[in-house]
Amino acid sequence: PDPRLKLIARPVEKVDDSVRRFIDDMYETMYNADGIGLAATQVGDLRRILVLDIAQKENRREPKVFINPEISWLSEETNTYTEGCLSFPEHFADVVRPKKIKVKYLDYDGKQQEVEADELLATCLQHEIDHLNGKVFVDYIPPVKRDIILRKLKKEKRNDD
Ligand code: NI
Repeated sequence: PDPRLKLIARPVEKVDDSVRRFIDDMYETMYNADGIGLAATQVGDLRRILVLDIAQKENRREPKVFINPEISWLSEETNTYTEGCLSFPEHFADVVRPKKIKVKYLDYDGKQQEVEADELLATCLQHEIDHLNGKVFVDYIPPVKRDIILRKLKKEKRNDD
């Protein structure tokens, strides 16, 4: 609904203390909202940074940050998850995505890393990387269903104003 969600984020040139402070703020925002993932785009910042913590589902905290993430491989096998998004509160939809992926990224210390992700981690990473590319999960669902969600959100927004 917010046009800023359609913008494409720019790569981080150097991972310094100011970037790390921003990442710490993103962790806080994600935990405060009970989210398992957050892209910088969602807080109005156009740097290619995303944070996630899928361990929260088991009441643990394992924060992870992915700076300049790039998908280097996708499996042909797919998986369907019922996805939600902090930018679309209370709305969920089944999205089909590759089940496994490999992602190259810079970590909190600016070191180059690569991870092979499966299941929920793979889905979550793809969802958040989409945000950095101006894409949101409702782009994957049938237009009729998408319109229903967008109309409801507009109505809710009007009621809040
Ligand atoms: Ni999202």
